[in-house]
Amino acid sequence: MKKVISYSSGKGGVGKTSLVANSGVLWAEEGKKVLIVDGDWSLGKMALTLGVKPQWAIHDVLEGKATLKEAAQGVTRNLSLLASPSGVMGFEELSEHQRNQLFYELDALQDDYDLILIDHSSGVHWGVIQFAAAAHNHVIVTTAEPTSYMDAYAIMKILSQRFKIRQFELIVTMSQSLVETQKIIERFIDITQSHLEVTVREVGHFPFEPKLAESLRQQKPIASLYPDSLFIRQLAKVCKTLEKLPNERGNGLKFYYSQNINPLAAR
Ligand SMILES: Nc1ncnc2c1ncn2[C@@H]1O[C@H](COP(=O)(O)OP(=O)(O)O)[C@@H](O)[C@H]1O
Ligand SMILES: [Mg+2]
Repeated sequence: MKKVISYSSGKGGVGKTSLVANSGVLWAEEGKKVLIVDGDWSLGKMALTLGVKPQWAIHDVLEGKATLKEAAQGVTRNLSLLASPSGVMGFEELSEHQRNQLFYELDALQDDYDLILIDHSSGVHWGVIQFAAAAHNHVIVTTAEPTSYMDAYAIMKILSQRFKIRQFELIVTMSQSLVETQKIIERFIDITQSHLEVTVREVGHFPFEPKLAESLRQQKPIASLYPDSLFIRQLAKVCKTLEKLPNERGNGLKFYYSQNINPLAAR
């Protein structure tokens, strides 16, 4: 089943890019064709986390220098990356036309992949939220810190109230004490479900893993460096859960552009 999975967190530095990068590596090793979209345009570190130096980035597509197909570069046999440019305008600053163009081109690419993973930038920007809303499934990444789960709550509030997203998959990261974190997160899920019309399901709980910093230093994903680590074994289980989820929106990325207007024609 074709699937677009959006990963959001609100707060940065919670380990989202590490999770998306390594999920991509694991799925690709299983033979799934995977595209990772680095949605963190101004400060994206997906290429670094995967240990590649991409030739193209998303802004080359918007400036007409490359097609999306060209810009989506191979990382491994089944894994491609649509990289983010460094230090240029972010997705939140795109014009309506540029945003539509990106949706249109990404939608056309969906047939080439089994899974498209979108790693969003932190913060609650309208453009980011719109992009997130167009996905089939919604993963929210948080730590057990109030600064992180309050932002996770804010994202879920906007996605549920503005876009009627009803189902969220929660990943908890960087946990120093699994028992204590579990209590905090269960309470957080209860409060969220009683205040918002949503179902929140915890799909993974990751301990603080120092090997992640080492893998970044070596510029190799931990899935390649330490495939037998607890982190990767747990992530493999999360991937299994996510791939079985029913698609929440039949149309995926088509949701946000008019099917009658080809924005490329207006270039
Ligand atoms: N579970 C974890 N345990 C320890 N360190 C982590 C964990 N996840 C991520 N990190 C570290 O935190 C930093 C930020 O990670 P990153 O994945 O880029 O976060 P984000 O995308 O949320 O900003 C990196 O230095 C990474 O090595
Ligand atoms: Mg990131």
